[in-house]
Amino acid sequence: MTRPEPAVLTGAQLAGARELAARLDRSARESRGAPALNEAVWRDLESPRSDSAAVLLDGVALAHVARGDTASGRLWSAGLAVAPGARGPEVVGAVLGAAAAHVARHGGGRVLLWVLAAEPGDEELAAAAAFAPVRELYEMRVPLPVPQEVRWPDGVTVRDFVPGRDEAAWLGVNNRAFRDHPEQGGWTADTLRRRMAEPWFDPSLFLLAFDDAGLAGFDWCKVHPPDGRDPALGEIFVIGVDPRAAGRGLGRPLALAGLARLHGRGVGTGMLFCAADNAPALRLYRSIGFTVHRVDRAFAREVDPA
Ligand SMILES: CC(C)(COP(=O)(O)OP(=O)(O)OC[C@H]1O[C@@H](n2cnc3c(N)ncnc32)[C@H](O)[C@@H]1OP(=O)(O)O)[C@@H](O)C(=O)NCCC(=O)NCCS
Repeated sequence: MTRPEPAVLTGAQLAGARELAARLDRSARESRGAPALNEAVWRDLESPRSDSAAVLLDGVALAHVARGDTASGRLWSAGLAVAPGARGPEVVGAVLGAAAAHVARHGGGRVLLWVLAAEPGDEELAAAAAFAPVRELYEMRVPLPVPQEVRWPDGVTVRDFVPGRDEAAWLGVNNRAFRDHPEQGGWTADTLRRRMAEPWFDPSLFLLAFDDAGLAGFDWCKVHPPDGRDPALGEIFVIGVDPRAAGRGLGRPLALAGLARLHGRGVGTGMLFCAADNAPALRLYRSIGFTVHRVDRAFAREVDPA
């Protein structure tokens, strides 16, 4: 029997992919212990960009692709959800191949596919669609409260982010701190506005630290309500110190102060995502008590314009 061609939904049609996405995501949680699709995918299925696409195959597989928020517009992110019994090179190759063809029709670029709770066989599956491994990301967790005192360097003052006032300074520090980071660097005012418009956004969980020269660092946190599998999680969503102020003891109190705020909201577990090769950050997190809970892997493919 020949398999049906994948159906490609674009733009506003993406709402039609939500039911299958939710079903496949649930079965991934059951079979792999982690969701298949990350938050960026859900965000886009909820309010799709005009050039996003979802590829659906036979009720057993879904690939999603969306242009990233970076200034260049060349970076795309992809997600993949496949029913456990259908997880093979033919199915994965078909949906990811169709997603890559969509990117080709929209100017091409670099497509980054995130596989959550990666397993050894995933590399071979990604290769079926010409994706090669590029990065690993750790989800780390720590029980709260953390028994460490928050000690700020001399001359540092701390306050909450004020919407309408702190955006430009924050974008400057974020983009300098993450200048080498493909997704967290290169944020625009629009990227920030979109995140602040999300329902979880809470400026009282967004700490800013100032020194004599202005904004020096920040810790932006968010609360994930319990979801049946996980307890409530308090995430260090983005933490950064301006390179001009790095290595002077600001990162540690920022992290601890954010975790204390999260614990103050009744959250018993802190979590964050950290690139496996970010040695300074990993050292800091491990010394606070964070341990690796899950390993996600990114696979990339360069797609030429069609
Ligand atoms: C990670 C980051 C927030 C740490 O902030 P910081 O102010 O430089 O860190 P601190 O001076 O408070 O140092 C805290 C610990 O970090 C580690 N650390 C900091 N700089 C380091 C470096 N260059 N190399 C190795 N370890 C380093 C040390 O373990 C230090 O421990 P100590 O207190 O025992 O000396 C900062 O480096 C940063 O903004 N990096 C870029 C953005 C980023 O990667 N954010 C994290 C994403 S998960």
